[in-house]
Amino acid sequence: MSNDIDHEGPSRNVVDERHPVADPGLEEHLPRPTDVDEKAARRAELQVTGLFAVVPLLAIAFVVIYFAVPREMYVEFGALHANAQHVGLGVTLGLAILAIGIGAVHWARQLMSDHEIVEERHPATSSEEDRKATLAEFDKGVEDSAITRRKLVGRSLLGALGIVAIPAVVTLADLGEWPTPTRIGETLEKTIWGDKRNPEDPGVYIVNDVTYKRIKAADLRIGQLVNAEPENLQDYHGHHLQTEKSKAALVIVRMEPSRIKVPESRRDWQVGGILAYSKICTHVGCPISLWEQQTHHLLCPCHQSTFDLGDSGVVVFGPAARALPQLPIAVDDEGYLYATSDFTVPVGPSYFERDSTKDFKKGDN
Ligand code: FES
Repeated sequence: MSNDIDHEGPSRNVVDERHPVADPGLEEHLPRPTDVDEKAARRAELQVTGLFAVVPLLAIAFVVIYFAVPREMYVEFGALHANAQHVGLGVTLGLAILAIGIGAVHWARQLMSDHEIVEERHPATSSEEDRKATLAEFDKGVEDSAITRRKLVGRSLLGALGIVAIPAVVTLADLGEWPTPTRIGETLEKTIWGDKRNPEDPGVYIVNDVTYKRIKAADLRIGQLVNAEPENLQDYHGHHLQTEKSKAALVIVRMEPSRIKVPESRRDWQVGGILAYSKICTHVGCPISLWEQQTHHLLCPCHQSTFDLGDSGVVVFGPAARALPQLPIAVDDEGYLYATSDFTVPVGPSYFERDSTKDFKKGDN
């Protein structure tokens, strides 16, 4: 069978300065068994269909494993200690994608047209003629793919691709519960600063986040900043610990009382110039503790938002739109600092449902 398309026109075999070696052109096209034997073509069609048909079974196995295999179950592969559910999900999803891939390659090699095609170089802008030719080529490609004649292959591929999406949908369950207003109130908008450890405690004690010891007001020097956390954080473990720690992180600062502005509504929130603020930037949530003693400014290293801790944490520079939430604090009979309640506004970055009416704004009293 001869080539359908001439490689370089009439000059192809001409040897000149630009073409010192003659171009032998394309090799003669040899038909495949599936081109000349309908039985072989049918066999290839069934093989491709079989590969695509395995995909729904693997997708079902994926879903069954997701729900049936306990998350705490582990399997041993030699030195490897692996989570059984992860292994099962990986193997089934991997095999499903592999089956689609092998099926598609087999289809292309055995059933689609394999006539050699040479694409001529042309200017970047396509002419109207070229566009028409492209559309015609596309239609020919559809025809050559045999999808219109061998409907079984096309349908089984569509079915396989549709069903393989199910595992992806199932895993959306791991994104957590739907964020209803109640759920948001119990999670995003609440920290453990409001949960007393013992009923007899006056509030949640503030501890140093390195030594885990309670902080005594008298031990803080003017100008000092201490990173702190709630004492009851020690009762949490695993991902609960990380979640609560990230929301409750705190900075305690001590400033000269005569050099700070304390609004009337927050008069009881501080102890002789000692104030406590969320350590989480209200821009996009970086932890902050770059403290400038002289100006009372706290700088976020991520995008340089700057908060004035001597003025209720209002923003004085940068992209943050809200003041740093302040935590109301007091001292017990022995002089240890504790939180008298949770933050009165949610900590961290904004989100769609957030009510910003309670946020402190410069000039509020
Ligand atoms: S996260 Fe703090 S300024 Fe962007």
